[in-house]
Amino acid sequence: MILVTGGAGFIGSNFVLDWLSSSSAEGVVNLDKLTYAGNLTNLQSLKNDSRHTFVHGDIGNKSLVEKILNDYCPRAIVNFAAESHVDRSIHGPAEFIQTNVMGTFNLLECAREYWTSLEGAEKEQFRFHHVSTDEVYGSLSSSDPAFKETNPYEPNSPYSASKAASDHLVRAWFHTYGFPVITTNCSNNYGPYHFPEKLIPLVILNALNSKPLPIYGDGQQIRDWLYVGDHCSAIRKVLASGQLGETYNIGGWNEKANLDIVNTICSILDELRPRSNGKSYAEQITFVKDRPGHDRRYAIDATKIQKELGWRPAETFDTGIRKTVQWYLENPVWVEGVFTGSYRDWLDKQYRN
Ligand code: NAD
Ligand code: DAU
Repeated sequence: MILVTGGAGFIGSNFVLDWLSSSSAEGVVNLDKLTYAGNLTNLQSLKNDSRHTFVHGDIGNKSLVEKILNDYCPRAIVNFAAESHVDRSIHGPAEFIQTNVMGTFNLLECAREYWTSLEGAEKEQFRFHHVSTDEVYGSLSSSDPAFKETNPYEPNSPYSASKAASDHLVRAWFHTYGFPVITTNCSNNYGPYHFPEKLIPLVILNALNSKPLPIYGDGQQIRDWLYVGDHCSAIRKVLASGQLGETYNIGGWNEKANLDIVNTICSILDELRPRSNGKSYAEQITFVKDRPGHDRRYAIDATKIQKELGWRPAETFDTGIRKTVQWYLENPVWVEGVFTGSYRDWLDKQYRN
């Protein structure tokens, strides 16, 4: 049994589905608060799978987390639970501090107490895997080398600062208590079940709904894109053979400017779902006010995980983005389900001006 937190979100649900796709997989207890970003529809295919147990709750709830640990005795925890959207952290940072910092602190403390009570092989093999981001390293110029695990932390947004704080807690629990942790810092993910507040799904759905495709600033900011299935395979690899107390950067070797990403999506849509007027979706591109403190470039040097653990992404950007666009076209029911009032309110708040 493993405990996954945030397993109803984008990456967490992909991870749970991926994990349980092998018939010999251990069971998963999935603790998720079901914020606006959590969606049980993502896990619908597991409805009758007894290996998946869903618990609705907060990683910051001490008695609940203690009960889960004592009832299910997981041999590992994979912590995805977080507030994850930079723009929302600019509008309202408090939830980010609460979940990403205080929530991780509570999870660490409960898990440490549980681990202390274990003995022998169970204690030795226990793992706390903390899922983090490349944004903790700050912003690169166009000539800087990609982020290595040894780069200093220079977070620039409330989101990345809260993730950096959580990474520091995880590190300290290893050094002070010998608690068996591993942290991974990953670049931008994309793929199925991605909530359409983030660039790629927002652009796909806005395009199909004849809405503007909002590009912040000049659109030349660079991100290093990784297909979500590749992130999941990297986490599995690190969980199986990563060194305790180490951090591993995970990235796709896929640096792209935002404007190029949006143009690529438009060309795929032009081919798969041509507009009735025969014009390209690229006509809907609209330059809008930039994100405050917008990081210019992220790039991951994933040499360590490749050399030490033999992991490399399976998807190229071309194959991954095509699969992703196709997934959104083939899943109108899921799309309809996320178009709630609160999602519309978010779009209004963020893009009104
Ligand atoms: P997401 O926002 O899609 O999902 C987060 C999930 O956590 C949701 O299901 C939500 O309900 C749950 N959650 C939030 N607060 C909680 C709490 N207090 N207790 C329990 N559950 C809670 O996020 P995501 O994109 O899937 O990201 C997952 C993790 O991966 C995050 O830690 C994020 O920082 C990290 N990460 C994301 C990316 C990316 O590109 N999306 C890249 C690198 C790292
Ligand atoms: O790098 C990893 C991070 O990637 C994760 O830690 C975060 O959880 C995840 O949200 C993502 O952060 P970004 O801020 O890079 O992702 P987002 O999809 O919000 O934006 C990607 C780029 O596109 C960024 O440069 C901002 C720009 N953008 C975004 C939106 C939503 C636009 O130009 N227009 C938009 O409407």
